[in-house]
Amino acid sequence: MRLGASFTMTNHSTTSRREFLRFVASSPLLGAAALSACDDDDDIRADAALVQPLLSPEDAINVFDLERAARETVPTSHFGYMATGVDDDRTLRANREGFSRFYLRPRRLVDVSSIDMSIELFGERWETPILLCPAGSQRAFHPEGEAAVARAARTRDHLQILSTVTTTPVEEVAELRDRPIWYQLYPTADWAVTRGLLSRAEGAGCPVVVLTVDLPVNSNRNTERRYAAADDRDCVTCHTPTVEGYFSRKRMFDSVDVSNLTGLFAPSLTWDFVRRLKDTTDMRVVVKGIVTGEDAERCVEYGADGIIVSNHGGRAEESGHATILSLSEVVAAVQGRLPVIVDSGFRRGNDILKALALGATAVGIGRPYLWGLGAFGQPGVERVLDILRGELEIAMQLAGTPTIRDMDPSLLGRD
Ligand code: FNR
Repeated sequence: MRLGASFTMTNHSTTSRREFLRFVASSPLLGAAALSACDDDDDIRADAALVQPLLSPEDAINVFDLERAARETVPTSHFGYMATGVDDDRTLRANREGFSRFYLRPRRLVDVSSIDMSIELFGERWETPILLCPAGSQRAFHPEGEAAVARAARTRDHLQILSTVTTTPVEEVAELRDRPIWYQLYPTADWAVTRGLLSRAEGAGCPVVVLTVDLPVNSNRNTERRYAAADDRDCVTCHTPTVEGYFSRKRMFDSVDVSNLTGLFAPSLTWDFVRRLKDTTDMRVVVKGIVTGEDAERCVEYGADGIIVSNHGGRAEESGHATILSLSEVVAAVQGRLPVIVDSGFRRGNDILKALALGATAVGIGRPYLWGLGAFGQPGVERVLDILRGELEIAMQLAGTPTIRDMDPSLLGRD
């Protein structure tokens, strides 16, 4: 039952609204009903009467509250760039819907008084399995962009992956983060450019390069274009609409000759490139954008050090398939030889729990931290990380799995 269906608040004063919310919070029955109305993507459309504007990041109850706040603060066209899927946004929606294909099979009478959600990745210990996916142009969402994210990653100690199309130089982000960041590579079609990007990432101390392979060409982003058309600001206040203007804002290209480039894409790239990358750099090579067991086997064959199961948050091909549903075939193909990270659509601690139970080593988030960034800068990103960590902790306690080692696919069932 949706609470709002039987209880309207329209004629109540602010004071009585607060009283009502206190009552809901203290009532197990009504509290459960109110939360269930919010317990999925539809929270974006949750009962409007219950949703308060956020005065501070701490007011956010879940990450969707920060999405709503970011919608108010981020320029319309930039919000569209963040929100968009491709074609009909089917894959974007599928990523969320995929989680509800699994139910939990919790174990009772387990001591869950202390929870350890730490993981190890390439010999490094992390307190949580939640990492920050690469996302381009973060200064489009907040003036401090990637720097604010680095500071939040530092205070909360999460792994940060920096995009090739960062609007803050890798050296600056690495210094602010103060623990090695990973570098994400769009190799472009020019090997000399690739070499330049790699040596800057190496120089900044990145131990891992993440090769994104799911965008050989640009994808068809209708939603982004609709938001852009609805924005009445003049784009040239932020962008110079030329290739040179584009690269001048992307700080990885500061000292790189981009005269041969028409864009970021490398449509002729094949698996040999993975081996070439391995032969060229001492950084570990993680391949991002894998969604099939067949390609996972190729990653092993061509010497990759890790895999990110990802469909770019529904921004690459319109497969219509959730990454949480692709995870098992990748884990099965890899057979423990490589760490398997997964992203796309993770919004709840419970989503993360499901991926860990299916064998993921870690889970990446994209838009949720961008919502926090857009709404409040560094404190907004911190709030997102706190919310997800808190939700994961509760989910682990309620599932009877005090550590990630206690999880396996038997924790889940499928209807
Ligand atoms: C991305 N993503 C991305 N991936 C990548 O490898 N390089 C990049 O530069 C970007 N840029 C980017 C910008 C924006 C605005 C978004 C939303 C996403 C994809 C990202 O790394 C990740 O795969 C998804 O964001 C995960 O899905 P969710 O959490 O956003 O649903």
